[in-house]
Amino acid sequence: RKSVSNHCLVGHLAPSNGMLNPDSHFSSEKGINLKHIESRPSRMNSQEFEFFISVDTSCSKALDEVIAGLRTEISGHVHELSRNKQKDTVPWFPNHIQDLDRFANQILSYGSELDADHPGFTDPVYRARRKEFADIAYSYRHGQVIPKVEYTAEEKATWSTVFRELKTLYPTHACREHNRVFPLLEKYCGYRQDNIPQLEDVSCYLQSCTGFRLRPVAGLLSSRDFLAGLAFRVFHSTQYIRHSSKPMYTPEPDICHELLGHVPLFADPTFAQFSQEIGLASLGAPDEYIERLATVYWFTVEFGLCKQGSEVKAYGAGLLSSFGELQYCLTDKPKIQPFDPLKTSLQKYPVTEFQPIYFVAESFDDAKERVRKFADTIPRPFSVRYNAYTQSIEVLNNTQQLRNLADSISGEIGILCNALRKME
Ligand SMILES: [Fe+2]
Repeated sequence: RKSVSNHCLVGHLAPSNGMLNPDSHFSSEKGINLKHIESRPSRMNSQEFEFFISVDTSCSKALDEVIAGLRTEISGHVHELSRNKQKDTVPWFPNHIQDLDRFANQILSYGSELDADHPGFTDPVYRARRKEFADIAYSYRHGQVIPKVEYTAEEKATWSTVFRELKTLYPTHACREHNRVFPLLEKYCGYRQDNIPQLEDVSCYLQSCTGFRLRPVAGLLSSRDFLAGLAFRVFHSTQYIRHSSKPMYTPEPDICHELLGHVPLFADPTFAQFSQEIGLASLGAPDEYIERLATVYWFTVEFGLCKQGSEVKAYGAGLLSSFGELQYCLTDKPKIQPFDPLKTSLQKYPVTEFQPIYFVAESFDDAKERVRKFADTIPRPFSVRYNAYTQSIEVLNNTQQLRNLADSISGEIGILCNALRKME
């Protein structure tokens, strides 16, 4: 979930046109650096391919020339997904929950591509399976039922090991919110040692608790896109499982991480609100603040600790889904500091080893207030609010929007006063 600042294009290319030759279009002499290119089967025509191209350039004219060049070379169309213009323009953000469908085209790498040090790198069966999962997510659109997956015996065995081991640590190491929700997931969502729960069932249950929902993701999203999902109470979730050769290790998120680490907390109303605050703060924020918010997300939602009475417990999903790090984080080995987004957002961190430093929140409510205050420091010429009825973002920059907000607050205050009178 690394952040990128660049320009993204996507194009369709019929195989009869031959190969797309990137070298003829992108070169540092032209002031255009090719950052990423990949091909995917087209969703519109199975005979065609889509190319996703991400480039870095400070020269808008050079980019226009490249796009014009691509348009003459290929028979299909070239579509510009995003362009970060001058520093003072507000980057595009989704306004409606359906707009999240656009992210499916903007993934930074397809889920079946594995690094050379990935445990499944040399396993063709695992790689083919990963492609099946990536294809499900790539075709998924908002409002559809998340396709159910028949997990293999090998996959279930991996889940079983992870589930059994982690469950022994939760009573002593996990926060009370996690421990409150976990038995409910066992009761209603099929959380069992011998069963990998289905994303659709879990998503429906989360919606009934906090309005949070899951949507499958085909690969790595940019930090900006990933955080934007949270503004709509949408969590982008993987559906595949780690490689069976190393059940207690995964270099990337997998279904064990999502279901055991993230899901229980998203069923908690205060934590759900906290997560949404991070997402709302990210909408239209400049790149450097996206990086800082992604770091806040890292040290809270992924690796957060919180005070509970006289003890410190884990609530970050990266901890709750790692047998080794869940034990380590509560020893005296790592450094512990109070959660303060102004400072926390600047902390550097490793991604492939145990964290040398953790931040402790006083409570989810306190963390939420601190994130709100931090959000106020983000230079953005408007405020935003999520309208849960229309599942859309309201940009509060005109009197009509403010009047709507005042009406809705006034209605709520009326209900509150009425309830107080009745209780007296
Ligand atoms: Fe995660």
